[in-house]
Formats: sequence, C-alpha cells, structure tokens
Amino acid sequence: MLDMRQVAKVYRTELVETHALRSLDLHVREGEFVAVTGPSGSGKTTFLNIAGLLETFTGGEYLLDGVDVKGLGDNARSKLRNEKIGFIFQGFNLIPDLNLFDNVDVPLRYRGMPASERKLRIEEALGMVGLGSRMKHYPAELSGGQQQRVAIARALAGSPRLLLADEPTGNLDSQMARSVLELIEDINAQGTTIVMVTHDPELAARAQRNVHIVDGMATDVVREPRLAAAGADRPATSA
Ligand SMILES: Nc1ncnc2c1ncn2[C@@H]1O[C@H](COP(=O)(O)OP(=O)(O)OP(=O)(O)O)[C@@H](O)[C@H]1O
Ligand SMILES: [Mg+2]
Repeated sequence: MLDMRQVAKVYRTELVETHALRSLDLHVREGEFVAVTGPSGSGKTTFLNIAGLLETFTGGEYLLDGVDVKGLGDNARSKLRNEKIGFIFQGFNLIPDLNLFDNVDVPLRYRGMPASERKLRIEEALGMVGLGSRMKHYPAELSGGQQQRVAIARALAGSPRLLLADEPTGNLDSQMARSVLELIEDINAQGTTIVMVTHDPELAARAQRNVHIVDGMATDVVREPRLAAAGADRPATSA
C-alpha cells in the first residue's frame, strides 16, 4: 500500500539546510495498523505529510498503491490524496466558522460529490464518532476530545483506504485518548490501513507494528515475544 525507499527531505532557507528525512525506508501493507514513535524533531510529521501527498520530497521513491508519486503533477496528486487518504492533523485543524456538518463536508465538496451523498456520509461519519446529535454545533462549543472526534469524522467521511494520523490523542486526557484509539482500532478492523504517529508508548503498543523514527530514518521496533507474535511473519527491520 505504502512503499518508501530512501526518502529524503531537505528544507532549505538562505541560512540553513535541515535534513528532516535522511533515508527513510518504510513499507506498510494493506490493512496494517502501524504506530510511529520517535523524539521531537525526528521527522515524523514530515514523513506523514509526504505519505499524505501534502509535501514533496527531495530524494528517494514513494509508491502509493503502486503509483509512483514523484511523476504526478499537482492536480493528479490532489486527486489521489482526496480519493485514497484521510488525514488527522497534529492539532485538529477544524474551521472555527463552520459547524460540524460543514467541517466534515469540506473534503467531500472538494471531491465534487453530489449533495445527497455528502449528507449521508457526513451523518454517518459524525454518528460513528458519537456526535450525530451535534451537527449544528461549532468547534468552540466542543471539548478537545470531541473536536478530535470531528477531525476523525472528517478524515473518514470520504472512506479513505489509508488513514494517516499525527498525534491523534495529543492534548487529550488518558480516558479520552483510549476512546479515540478504540475508534481508530474499529476503523482498522473494517479494513482501513492506518499509520499513526504517537508519543504515547502505551497507545503505540496497541498497534500491530511499531516503527521508530530517529534522525530522519525509520526502523521497526522489535517487541516482546507476546506482542510480537501477531507480527512474527514480518522482518525485524524494514527492508
Ligand atoms: N517547513 C519547514 N521548514 C524548515 N524546517 C522544517 C519545516 N518543517 C519541519 N522542519 C524541520 O524538520 C525536522 C523534522 O520536523 P518534524 O515536524 O517532521 O518533526 P516531528 O518528529 O514531527 O516532531 P514533533 O514530535 O515535535 O511533532 C525538524 O528539525 C524541523 O525543525
Ligand atoms: Mg510532529
């Protein structure tokens, strides 16, 4: 589903060059749930933004569902992103002037979906995250956990095959974090491939596979035998 080979990203300004990703190899198979951990500044968000086609990269190869992303123009990239990928941002990125219904509607409108289908999808997605009765509310009227649920609903309304989540439980208390994670597990159980960045080792341990990014490079984390059993067929380091 997601194949990255020696992906590099350099941010250049007049004064400094930052090597956000050095040579990142990562392969995620269809249906997997991968948690990505790593120190602050190690390149996790950069990796997710590239995976989600929000940013370009400066070296290496990225195939998304077999499509070589590098060769695509802006329109083709946007189209691919919109059709295949749901993104939960670090911070919720909800639009304060729009109610919940209209927030979830944004990516669907962008796809040019008919209004009747959009309405069904929005109601279903907000219902799934337990906010079906609050569709006319505005983000400021919600708790942090509820706002995060809206962000999840927005990412899911388009039925993405790949869900990318950047600290989806950051800023939430531990009980709220667990319920958001349960929601993500349900989504994975329904077949969506998930890549989730998290600082929380307890949440990471619930994914099928853990990848650690340090200094712009990724390695698989070898886990305790009990936890590793489910992923025993996978190599200890990403190929
Ligand atoms: N737009 C940008 N311009 C210049 N440098 C950037 C930019 N975005 C990120 N960087 C740099 O790239 C490196 C990786 O940043 P990134 O945001 O990917 O880290 P992260 O692992 O997500 O950190 P955190 O856990 O704090 O969210 C950092 O050194 C950061 O300063
Ligand atoms: Mg980050």
